[in-house]
Amino acid sequence: MELIHRPRRLRGSEYLRKMVRETRMDKASLIYPLFVKEGKGIQEEIPSMEGQYRYSIDRLPYELERVAKAGVGSVMLFGIPDKKDEVGSGAYAQDGIVQKALREAKRQFPELYYITDVCMCEYTSHGHCGVLCGHDVENDATLELLSKTALSHVQAGADMVAPSDMMDGRVRAIRECLDANKYQGIPIMSYAVKYASAFYGPFRDAAGSAPSFGDRKSYQMDFHNSREGLKEALTDVEEGADIIMVKPALSYLDMVTKVSEAVNLPVAAYSVSGEYAMVKAAARMGWVDEEKIVCEMAVSAYRAGAQIYLTYYAKELAGFMAEGRIG
Ligand code: PBG
Repeated sequence: MELIHRPRRLRGSEYLRKMVRETRMDKASLIYPLFVKEGKGIQEEIPSMEGQYRYSIDRLPYELERVAKAGVGSVMLFGIPDKKDEVGSGAYAQDGIVQKALREAKRQFPELYYITDVCMCEYTSHGHCGVLCGHDVENDATLELLSKTALSHVQAGADMVAPSDMMDGRVRAIRECLDANKYQGIPIMSYAVKYASAFYGPFRDAAGSAPSFGDRKSYQMDFHNSREGLKEALTDVEEGADIIMVKPALSYLDMVTKVSEAVNLPVAAYSVSGEYAMVKAAARMGWVDEEKIVCEMAVSAYRAGAQIYLTYYAKELAGFMAEGRIG
């Protein structure tokens, strides 16, 4: 048999497969999302996200220690306030939950890198990502509150801010506000390509942030669209974003690839709560091999073009990478 091409030649041994590997990952690219809530002595499991918890500030350092020990260097903080109101004032309060958590976390674990989710939905009584005018989320009035929120996070110690609200112009508004306050050096990771997705279901349960009426389709994107995602990404590049995020990850890898080809900024993929919950549930039933599935999902995001991966499996993945099982 005179075959010229024998692709199998390079698959002959584990050593050779690793030599020719096209996708390599480093745990420095992992970000671990964490939920902080008011109260004391709280570490409560999120029912729809087995293995993920809400922590009160006094319990947070124990988790941060586990995160650091696992080899994950960055966390993304989400806050769950005690009180919500129409204008989400807890989001930008100096003694808001994220602001307080940041001060404490930075004091105890200054070596970790702190990113904050900038949004209103956990703080508004109606659960929408901005202030309302009737039943509509008012774009421009929301920008001011988002900027205030981002600034208050940075003042409390955030190393990077990540707006996830999907209002038009928020990256520019936040950039201008941070610059005017001498925080030119703080990067913005924009949830630029964020779809209105059922994959966020468990998160809303975790953060108590489901909208009390309607849905988020007037600000988050329609998942039938791909060119619109590029428009969002390019707009945020122009507005001064430093990193562009695509979210969710698993069903949107086409967008990870397209965005990474269209922009010259780092691209992040967020493997969201529903992705995590599906794997957990199937693994619990014994229907999939959790570790293998988690590795395959992560590699697919990087292979698609992501440089950064946000995942509730960050601690486990850092271990798999260190052991050389992937990467
Ligand atoms: C806040 C926000 C959400 C997520 C990240 N930031 C919820 C939403 O937009 O409804 C989802 C994260 C996840 O599902 O893991 N707007």
